[in-house]
Amino acid sequence: MKYPTQFRFPALVSLVIVLTAFAGLKVLAATPRLTVEEVTASKPLRDGIDIQAGAATIRITALREDIVRVRIAQGGTLPEDASWAVLPERREQSVDVKPLEDVGFVGFKTAVLEVRVERSPLRLLVRDLNGNHICNDALDNPTEFRNGGFEVHKQMPTDERFYGLGDKTGSFDRRGQAYELWNRDHGVEDTADPLYKSIPFFMGVTGGRSYGLFLDNTFRTWFDFGKQSRDSFSFGAEGGPLNYYVIYGPTPKQVVEGYAYLTGTPPMPPMWALGFQQSRYSYTPESMLRVVADKLRSDRIPADAVYLDIDYQFRNRPFTVDPVNFPGFPGLVADLKKEHLHLVTITDLHVAHVAGEGYMPYETGHAGDHFVKKADGSEYVGIVWPGPAVFPDFTRAETRKWWGGLYAEFVKDGVSGFWNDMNEPSVFDGPGMTMPLDNIHRIEEPGFAPRTATHAEIHNIVGMQNERATFEGLLKLRPDERPFVLTRATYAGGQRFGFTWTGDNASTWSQLRLGTQMLLNLGLSGISMVGDDIGGFGGSAAPDLLTRWIEIGAFNPMYRDHSTIGSMPQEVWAHGPEQEAIRRRYIETRYRLLPYIYTLAEEAHRTGLPMVRPLFLEFPNDFDGVDTEFMFGANLLVAPPPYGEMPEGYSVAYPEGEWYDFWTGAKAVRSPGQPSIVEVSNTIAAGESLSKFPPPVVIHPGLDTLPVYVRAGSVVPMQPLVQSTDETPQGPLELRVYPDWPDKGARAGRNCGGSLYLDDGHTFKFERGEYLRQAFTCQAQGREVTVGFGARTGSYAPWWKMMEVVVYGWPSAQAVAQITGTTDSLKTSYDEAAHALHIMVPDLAGKQELRVRE
Ligand code: NOJ
Repeated sequence: MKYPTQFRFPALVSLVIVLTAFAGLKVLAATPRLTVEEVTASKPLRDGIDIQAGAATIRITALREDIVRVRIAQGGTLPEDASWAVLPERREQSVDVKPLEDVGFVGFKTAVLEVRVERSPLRLLVRDLNGNHICNDALDNPTEFRNGGFEVHKQMPTDERFYGLGDKTGSFDRRGQAYELWNRDHGVEDTADPLYKSIPFFMGVTGGRSYGLFLDNTFRTWFDFGKQSRDSFSFGAEGGPLNYYVIYGPTPKQVVEGYAYLTGTPPMPPMWALGFQQSRYSYTPESMLRVVADKLRSDRIPADAVYLDIDYQFRNRPFTVDPVNFPGFPGLVADLKKEHLHLVTITDLHVAHVAGEGYMPYETGHAGDHFVKKADGSEYVGIVWPGPAVFPDFTRAETRKWWGGLYAEFVKDGVSGFWNDMNEPSVFDGPGMTMPLDNIHRIEEPGFAPRTATHAEIHNIVGMQNERATFEGLLKLRPDERPFVLTRATYAGGQRFGFTWTGDNASTWSQLRLGTQMLLNLGLSGISMVGDDIGGFGGSAAPDLLTRWIEIGAFNPMYRDHSTIGSMPQEVWAHGPEQEAIRRRYIETRYRLLPYIYTLAEEAHRTGLPMVRPLFLEFPNDFDGVDTEFMFGANLLVAPPPYGEMPEGYSVAYPEGEWYDFWTGAKAVRSPGQPSIVEVSNTIAAGESLSKFPPPVVIHPGLDTLPVYVRAGSVVPMQPLVQSTDETPQGPLELRVYPDWPDKGARAGRNCGGSLYLDDGHTFKFERGEYLRQAFTCQAQGREVTVGFGARTGSYAPWWKMMEVVVYGWPSAQAVAQITGTTDSLKTSYDEAAHALHIMVPDLAGKQELRVRE
């Protein structure tokens, strides 16, 4: 993705003609090269600095103490300050800085960062206040403009790892790889690139320090993390502004939160969207969907949603229903509702190009001038599912409003959620499977100067603006209901409008493994509400593969089984009762864990922290390369077999501290002194034998066991089993307490904690205080555990009257449990196999304490 330099920035000093001839690259025989070497003028600003470097202009500002923005233009003026990704109110934020000036550099300091621009040669260095490298320009030729685009080169320390860029394929750590960001309808192959989304944000982690870099540019961009060069990484774009943000940690969590500060967090999802979802391309005719719905209920597979893919439509025309195969659509939706199943229908963005047939999306869209134009000004028509189709111009606020209104009928019928597919946009007969790059979009949008823009500029945000139009339309049509929108393509900031999935994966073990990596990197890139097609989309899932996928999916944010047309059945009951029983147990676990999962969803909504997390997000000094294991929230560690068939077993990398087996309650066995596998590789000197360490414990989980561990020092809320989120759980709220017992003298027990968030699960009343939030603590000391109940906030009434506190790691049936300040002993029971003491307590909503002693 490199082009020969036409114009080298910084500084205008001399104009030289160079002959460039790079084998295999675009060659410009005699390219005028503008060499820029130094800062020619600078002016401190209250919140940053303005720099003149010959003809070029640089502005570096501090939005927060830990976030700096860098804008560089070839000429004397910076381009328009507008963004599809960064929230306007964030771009207006700034902090006062302390100017720096020396013979060798200019710059400024914030409370945590030092920004230095070396005068000659001009290099930008971002460091912490101890002088540690955060993100520094490369030594040579750090910023180049050419062919209307640019490329930036940064130094790459030998131990720096890179994450992010959304759901790219390849390895979890992006180092040594190069990627292109250009939304593309292309199946997920193990190394395919680019794919459906463009999230030009990554995180660099080195020496215990992390930072994020977000290049806010919607054109085709690229990132090369040391594939072409050993000492530097680079990023660039084919056009558009050179405008990036450096977000300092130092912890990876702070980086993710900083990025969410800029680009927003996911909306609070309807609770049903976190339940199990059954989809297929396609359940047609209607009777087929009814069979699936009935079977979910008769087999007692908890579920919340079923899907209709393209074949429910009349001739694949969005916003129609095929009257032959779906003769009683509103009745179908109503019947599904009776079974507590939400219907999600696909509504692709391509509007069938049919004039004069009364097809309203085309008629009204054409009349309102809502479609993308060709360079000659005529309506652009491309072939997609309906045949000839036109494409809404989503960068117009008016067009988004019109699009949102198209949902009125489905909303009236009671359809719950909508699926925006093919929105890269995919065009079967277009160049590169999309529309011509010189097609014309119109930017008519608050915060932007009105203008036209080519498809080359808008392409990467079509999916995001389609998703936004749907989301905002639904909000208008059903102001009291949280929308559920599922999109395939998106851009940075798309998390504000709903869910996404990784696209067309395949039914293979390697794709199951790849899926985890992709979901983790999506989460690190601000996109929390994510899933992959459970069982794989392309091909047919072998029985064991589907079972494992259903097991793992129970611990992913979105839990949707989906497969392609012509594949073998992939529903939970496919492959017989034995497999079904295992699968059901995991789906049931998902429903039992909903209080924990919903609390995580609210945390994602509030902070931007992802629901599925790589280990290093929770344990920043460790495990930054591990991607087969992952954390579901802060407390659950999921450790699937790294490969499908592992008869020899595998060892689990347990981060620091103790871990409990989620299923048995037993302490995870780690032989004393056994280092984690990562420690082994870091601590073994060359020539040293592994035998100095006790052998790691190898586990051999059967197909019916997905290893899941709970961090000692956590409280995990759970609920009685329900068949859907519509159902009110009957019985107590379960609070599983996993104390961190102190080692004899060696290590103090970690204070433990957990939290619970709940609301009505579907309206916006939580924004007006109708929620329930409570924090829990616990402390283990000698033979005593104290569980603290924080004062509950919010006005939402709980569904439970009692709480069942389960203390794990309890040694015997002997126990006295009392609420502090009372003299009555509470009833306890002991589960010897799980070493778990069960204590029934009345609902404790105020600040209270439960003491348990032997
Ligand atoms: C492509 C999508 O990725 C897939 O999930 C869907 O089933 C097909 N389009 C048909 O709509």
